[in-house]
Amino acid sequence: MMPSDVPGYSPGLEDVIAGLSGISKVDPEGDELIYYGYKVSQLCEQSSFEEVCYLLLNGTLPLKNEFTAFQKKLIEERSVPSKLIQYICELPKEAHYMDVLRSGISNLSHYDPQCEDNSKEAELAKSIRLIAKVPTLLAARIRAQKGAKPLAPHAKLGHAANFLYMVNGTEPDPDFAKALDVSLICYAEHGFNASTFTARVIASTLSEMHSCITGAIGALKGPLHGGANEQAMYMLQEIGDPAKAEGWIKEKLAQKAKIMGFGHRVYKKKDARAPILKNWGWKLAKKLGQTKWHEIAEIVERVMMSEKKLFPNVDFPAAPLYYLLGLPIEVDTPLFVVGRMPGWCAHIIEQRVGNRIMRPESHYTGPQARDYIPLIKRS
Ligand code: ACO
Repeated sequence: MMPSDVPGYSPGLEDVIAGLSGISKVDPEGDELIYYGYKVSQLCEQSSFEEVCYLLLNGTLPLKNEFTAFQKKLIEERSVPSKLIQYICELPKEAHYMDVLRSGISNLSHYDPQCEDNSKEAELAKSIRLIAKVPTLLAARIRAQKGAKPLAPHAKLGHAANFLYMVNGTEPDPDFAKALDVSLICYAEHGFNASTFTARVIASTLSEMHSCITGAIGALKGPLHGGANEQAMYMLQEIGDPAKAEGWIKEKLAQKAKIMGFGHRVYKKKDARAPILKNWGWKLAKKLGQTKWHEIAEIVERVMMSEKKLFPNVDFPAAPLYYLLGLPIEVDTPLFVVGRMPGWCAHIIEQRVGNRIMRPESHYTGPQARDYIPLIKRS
């Protein structure tokens, strides 16, 4: 039986409307992505990740005093119980960063006083705690992998700058902090993608927020979703030289390989976030005098367009940008988690309103009903 023979079945749920949402609009033409009506390009230029968190959680931009109070709460909530930091640092060295983060966030639930409270008030408070604490967990693990002790958060630095401080122990160059901040804004929210949908399915059972987030992390880890940024950087490394890029990509396409960081289910022509991160990547590359990765990336992009009419999605330019920030490649997808946290939380809170458990149908393709034969009589 072919999928097209089953009325109402759309493989991969393509074009299926699975809910109503007022949080973001993903325009298939890729001209603009909006969060509660605000263009992401403008938010990247003029706002900050913290302000975008407020917007996604509350639906409006904050007034000055509201933003000051919100920022203060985010800073106060950055610290993580020392037992949990120790647990994160002592997990096997070989463990994947996404698995470590998933375990860390799952464990955070045991320390959250409102873990089992699904009221809106409690979920907003839990969202702030999750957004604030995840970078602390991740930075502690990065340092542990290098044999260094974790650092306490820096109360005077913004979200992105504080993360780089907790990794390196020095206050970052403002351009580096801004580049990371912009990437987090680009990653903050994107409609009913696989991880957000996973979070909403779990929320629809009335399970609590930390379970929804750990499920979302599992979905994000896959290379067809958030795992693509990490894979894109390995690909750039494997190519290694701009002179080899065109031949390398053409050979992979001839082998019918998927090129990570290209293509998208919703976007048909372009991903509005990709040029924003590409420009920031080039800015850092020129500042550092390390333009090789972006030169290779430009060629890959050109060949993918001419050969396959495929454009880079947000994960492709994020890969060299994070590399130039000096972060380990395996941290690329966990940084997607840091960015997507407010989007996931906003969707969980939205799902609670008028909730109905998600329970789609499947079309049975197995054998018709038949009699059970006792084991002794089977031959
Ligand atoms: N490289 C090569 N060919 C591709 C790529 C790619 N990156 N993406 C799509 N194609 C081709 C497919 O092989 C397929 O060709 P065919 O019809 O000849 O078999 C056609 O384009 C349609 O692709 P599907 O995989 O069916 O498209 P789908 O909508 O199911 O998947 C996805 C979208 C997963 C993003 C896909 O484009 C892909 O695998 N890209 C690479 C992984 C990636 O970058 N993921 C990140 C997505 S964005 C995000 O999560 C933030």
